[in-house]
Amino acid sequence: LAQSNGSITISNDSKATISRHIYGQFAEHLGRGIYDGFWVDKTLPVKKQDRIRLDLVEALKKIKIPNLRWPGGCFADEYHWRDGIGPAAKRPRMVNSNWGGVTEDNSFGTHEFLELAKLLNTEPYIAGNLGSGTVDEMSKWIEYLNSNSTSTVVQQRKANGHADPYKVSFWGVGNENWGCGGNMTAEYYSNEFKRYAAFAKDYPNAKLKKIASGANSDDYHWTETLMKNIPNWMMWGVSMHYYTIPTGKWEKKGSATSFSESEYFNTMVNCLRMDEIVSKHAAIMDKYDPEKKVALVVDEWGVWTDPEPGTNPGFLYQQNSMRDALIAGTTLNIFNNHCDRVKMAELAQTINVLQALILTKKEKMILTPTYHIFDMYKVHQDAKYLNIKLNSPDYEVDGKKIPAVNASASQDASGKVHISLVNLDTKNAVNISTELKGIDWKAVKGTILTSANITDVNTFEQPNKLQIQNFNGAKKDGEKLSVSLPAKSVVVLELN
Ligand code: AHR
Repeated sequence: LAQSNGSITISNDSKATISRHIYGQFAEHLGRGIYDGFWVDKTLPVKKQDRIRLDLVEALKKIKIPNLRWPGGCFADEYHWRDGIGPAAKRPRMVNSNWGGVTEDNSFGTHEFLELAKLLNTEPYIAGNLGSGTVDEMSKWIEYLNSNSTSTVVQQRKANGHADPYKVSFWGVGNENWGCGGNMTAEYYSNEFKRYAAFAKDYPNAKLKKIASGANSDDYHWTETLMKNIPNWMMWGVSMHYYTIPTGKWEKKGSATSFSESEYFNTMVNCLRMDEIVSKHAAIMDKYDPEKKVALVVDEWGVWTDPEPGTNPGFLYQQNSMRDALIAGTTLNIFNNHCDRVKMAELAQTINVLQALILTKKEKMILTPTYHIFDMYKVHQDAKYLNIKLNSPDYEVDGKKIPAVNASASQDASGKVHISLVNLDTKNAVNISTELKGIDWKAVKGTILTSANITDVNTFEQPNKLQIQNFNGAKKDGEKLSVSLPAKSVVVLELN
C-alpha cells in the first residue's frame, strides 16, 4: 500500500468552545423531508406518536442533534403559520410553489413541529416569513409561541392544546432574502430586518436569538452591509449558505452515486472552499464585532447533487456515499476550527432531502454514511476547542493538489481528548506523527468509517455496507501519538 507522511501539533491553549449547535439539522417542507419523512401516513406500519415516525426519532436521538431548523428554506417565506394550527381537517391547502408544486395540506404545523422537537430532545429553530408575510404576522407567531398573557392568540394556543409557552429561542428573520425570499438587496434587507426585529419581542423566560438571513456563499457585500447597518445587539447571528456542488454548475450538478476520481477531486476542492468562505465572512464580522458577539450561522450546507433518476426533480432526493461522509467530516472539521465565530450550523436536510442523515422507503429506513459521521463527531459538542497545527501531504489528481488530511480536536468535560481526522486521498494511507502539548494521556482508542470505493452507499437491500468500525491504527509512541490513517477514511480518536 502506498503511504505518505504528515504531522500534527495539538495544544491546550485556546479559550474557545465548540458549540453543540454546530451539529444542527434542517427540515424543510420539501419533497419527502416532512411528509413521508418525519410525518407519515396513519396506515404506515411503523411505531408512531400521532403521525411522527419514532424509528427516525430514536436514530436521531442517538447522535444528539442539538437543534432543528424549520419550516424552510425557501418554503419559510411563503409559509403562513396560521394555516398550520387548529383541527387538521379545517386547515387550508396551499401549493408548495418552490418544491414540485405539490399540495401542502398543512397537517404538519407549529404544534406538530414542536412536538417533534420535544421528542428529539432538540432546540427548535424557526425561520419566520419576511418575504411574503407581514411584520404583524411574524410578531403574532412569536406571541402565540412564547407569551403567557391572556391575549387572543395565547388563548388560541391554549385551546389548541398547549397551555404553557413553548419558549422558542432561535428565530430566523427570513431566509435567502436575496433570492427566493424576495430578491432584495442587502441594503433593503437590513432595513427590513430592523423593522421585523423591532416587533419580534422577548417574553418572560423566552429571549429570542434573532438570526439575520445571510449571504449566498461568497457574497461578502451582503455580510458587510448587514454588519454595518444592523447594530450588534439586535442580532444573535448572521447566517450564510454554502453548498458543495460536485461539478460546480447548478444546471448539471453531478451524480450522487456514479462519479470518477477526477470529479470526486473537484467536489472536494469545492467542499474545502467552505474554509475560505467562512474565513472571509468572519474577517468582515471581526471589523464590526471584534468581541465576536454575533455568531456566523451556516444554516444550510452539504453536498447537492442531481436527484436520483426516476424521482421527482423538485424533491431533491439523493443517495449518500462514502464521498459524502468525507464531505461531512471535512466540513465539520472546518466549523470546529472556526468555532470562535461559527456557533451554529445546519446540515441540509435530515431526512430524504439533499445530504440526508436518513433515507426512508415505506416502513424501511437506512442510516447514511453522513449519519455515521455525525455519530462519531458528537463527542466534540460543547467541548473545549484545542488548537491544531497540521502539516499534510498533498493529494494530487490531474496535476492539481489539495491537502490530503484535515483535522480538528477538542477536550470534553471529563478530560478526554478527541481528534477527528479525514484522509481525502483515495489511494495513499497517511502516517501522522502527533505532538500533544499540555495534555496528559495514557491510552488511545478510535473508530473509523471507510469503504472499498468512494462511491459506496448503504441501500435498502444492504443497509450496513458502510458502518462505524473500531480503529486500531493509532498507538502511543513515547510522548507522541502515531496514527496510520487509511485512504478515504474518517477517524475519530479518543485519548485518555
Ligand atoms: O435546501 C434547499 C434550498 O436551498 C432551501 O430551501 C433554500 O434556502 C436554498 O436555496
